[in-house]
Amino acid sequence: MYVLTLEKEKRIVQPNPEAMETELKVNNLNVFYGSNHAVKNVSMEIKKHAITALIGPSGCGKSTFLRSINRMNDLIPGAVCKGEILYEGINLLDASVDVVSLRKEIGMLFQKPNPFPKSIFDNVTHGLKCAGIRKKDVLENAVEESLKLAGLWDETKDRLKHSALSLSGGQQQRLCLARALAMKPKVLLLDEPTSALDPVSTAKIEELLMSLKKRITIVIVTHNMQQAARIADQTAFFYEGTLVEFGNTRDLFENPTHTRTKSYISGQFG
Ligand SMILES: Nc1ncnc2c1ncn2[C@@H]1O[C@H](COP(=O)(O)OP(=O)(O)OP(=O)(O)O)[C@@H](O)[C@H]1O
Ligand SMILES: [Mg+2]
Repeated sequence: MYVLTLEKEKRIVQPNPEAMETELKVNNLNVFYGSNHAVKNVSMEIKKHAITALIGPSGCGKSTFLRSINRMNDLIPGAVCKGEILYEGINLLDASVDVVSLRKEIGMLFQKPNPFPKSIFDNVTHGLKCAGIRKKDVLENAVEESLKLAGLWDETKDRLKHSALSLSGGQQQRLCLARALAMKPKVLLLDEPTSALDPVSTAKIEELLMSLKKRITIVIVTHNMQQAARIADQTAFFYEGTLVEFGNTRDLFENPTHTRTKSYISGQFG
């Protein structure tokens, strides 16, 4: 089930998304903010343990689409989502879905690192404590495991009681990643997670996402097309609320079907 692709400097083995299991099946998703029809009849299959990138010009509906997956749009007055987002046989848009449990399973990371003004340790354990976990050894193990997964353990193991705000921007973003990972999510949604970071911190996050996809399904919004090309298995191009083109990242960048995709990826607008 693997396709061998030849990159410029090195040969890598990439999974073939078409042969992968589906994690989220989106059917005819429409999102409205009052009279603004922000996402228009979008259908797509997000593959399990793959990285799916969402690209497109500002205002095309990427964040709106992403937020509908873990029902964050519920928090926006006047926002209405219609259609289906099937996950483990359930339509996540159903009123009966418990959004607190949903957001544990489908975590999110935002553009600006948003650690709580608390210690590094307390940031990572926040969700676990909210879920009623109090045992010291359980919390300590979760902190170590999550910080290791987020590539932050070596830098923070001797300062876990220090304020999270004493960390650099890139470290804060990895701390937010650790905080999300502590909840053992099955899916992680990332909205431009590296756009506020320097190239070194960006590369570090990209590397982490590539290794995390072994255990987590990842959906990432990015304005950085090189980033999508580097890390995503599948890429979706949105324009004015519509999903114009969706497919294997390599095909989309090297052989786009639609003229609009072609002009966007060649930098003619956006
Ligand atoms: N909280 C909100 N309330 C009302 N309208 C909103 C809200 N968020 C987004 N919109 C509107 O929905 C449309 C899609 O916006 P969205 O933020 O999803 O785009 P985007 O592709 O993420 O853009 P960007 O790349 O600038 O982040 C836009 O017309 C925007 O004005
Ligand atoms: Mg956005």
